[in-house]
Amino acid sequence: MLNLFQFLELFPVIRYIFFHAKKRKKRMPLLPGLKNQDHNTMPLYKTKHISRSVGTSTQILVWKVTESYAELLEEVVLNDSNRIRLDGMKSEMHQRAFLSVRKLLQETGHTDLDLYYDEFGKPHLQGEKHISITHSHNFSAIIISGETVGIDIELQRDKITRIADKFCDSEFQFLDMDSEEYIRKLTVIWGAKEAIFKIRNEKGISFKDHISVEEFRINVKQTVAKLHFNNLVKDFNIHFEEIEDFTLVYAFEN
Ligand SMILES: CC(C)(COP(=O)(O)OP(=O)(O)OC[C@H]1O[C@@H](n2cnc3c(N)ncnc32)[C@H](O)[C@@H]1OP(=O)(O)O)[C@@H](O)C(=O)NCCC(=O)NCCS
Repeated sequence: MLNLFQFLELFPVIRYIFFHAKKRKKRMPLLPGLKNQDHNTMPLYKTKHISRSVGTSTQILVWKVTESYAELLEEVVLNDSNRIRLDGMKSEMHQRAFLSVRKLLQETGHTDLDLYYDEFGKPHLQGEKHISITHSHNFSAIIISGETVGIDIELQRDKITRIADKFCDSEFQFLDMDSEEYIRKLTVIWGAKEAIFKIRNEKGISFKDHISVEEFRINVKQTVAKLHFNNLVKDFNIHFEEIEDFTLVYAFEN
C-alpha cells in the first residue's frame, strides 16, 4: 500500500502517462495505401514520396489542422519576421494554418529558419531544394523537391461554377456542365493554374488566356498543362488527388 508521499511522487508519472495516452487517441488515420508513420504528436494526414526520374526526389506532406493555436505555437520554431507576421494575422484559422506549415517543415528535417520569402511572397528554402506552400481552411500542404514545383489545395465549392469563365477557355471543350464531376474538374483546373502560377511567379499571367489544362479523367489523377506567356511555351505535369472535400494539386515544370 502506498503512503501519501509515495503517491504524490508518482503523480507526475501518472500525469505524463495520461497526457500521452490522450495525445495518442487524437492520431489521424493515414489514407489507405500510404506509408504509416510513427509520430508521437499529432501526425501528418498524409505524406508521399515521388521520384520522377533518377536522382530527383519530391516530398508532399499534408496536415489536417485540429490542434489549437497554443498547441501548435509550442511545437514550432519561428524566425523573427514570421513571428511578427503571425502576430499580425487577423484570423486564428490562418494563424493555425501558418503554424501547421512549420510543423510540416519540421517533419522534413527543416525549420522556419531555413525558409525565406522573396518580394512577391514566394517561399524559398536555403540550399538547392524548391518548396511550395498552400493552405485552405483546416488543411495545409507543402511540396519540397529538387525540381521546380508548385502546390495548391482548394475546397470543392459550387460557387466555382460561377467564375469558371474567368479562368477556363480551351478547357470548355472537354468540360461537361451537366456532369456530377463538373465542380471537381473545375477545382482541379483552378488548382493546376494556381500551382503553375506559384512556380512561374510572373506578373501578368492570366489563368484564362495563358494557361491551358489538357483533358483528364478524375480517377487518373494526372494531366498536363501549358503556359504560353511572354513568347515562351512551358509544359507542366499535373498531379492531383481528392482529400475529403478538398482537391490537392501539384505541378512539375518540365
Ligand atoms: C499568391 C497566390 C498564388 C496564393 O494562392 P492562394 O490559393 O490564395 O493561397 P494558398 O494558400 O494556396 O497559397 C498561399 C501560399 O502561397 C505562397 N505564395 C504567395 N505568393 C506567392 C508567389 N508570388 N509565388 C509563389 N508562391 C507564393 C506562400 O507560401 C503562401 O503561404 P504563406 O505566405 O503562408 O507561406 C494567389 O493569391 C495569387 O496571387 N494567384 C494568382 C492570381 C490570379 O491570377 N488569379 C486568377 C484569377 S482568374
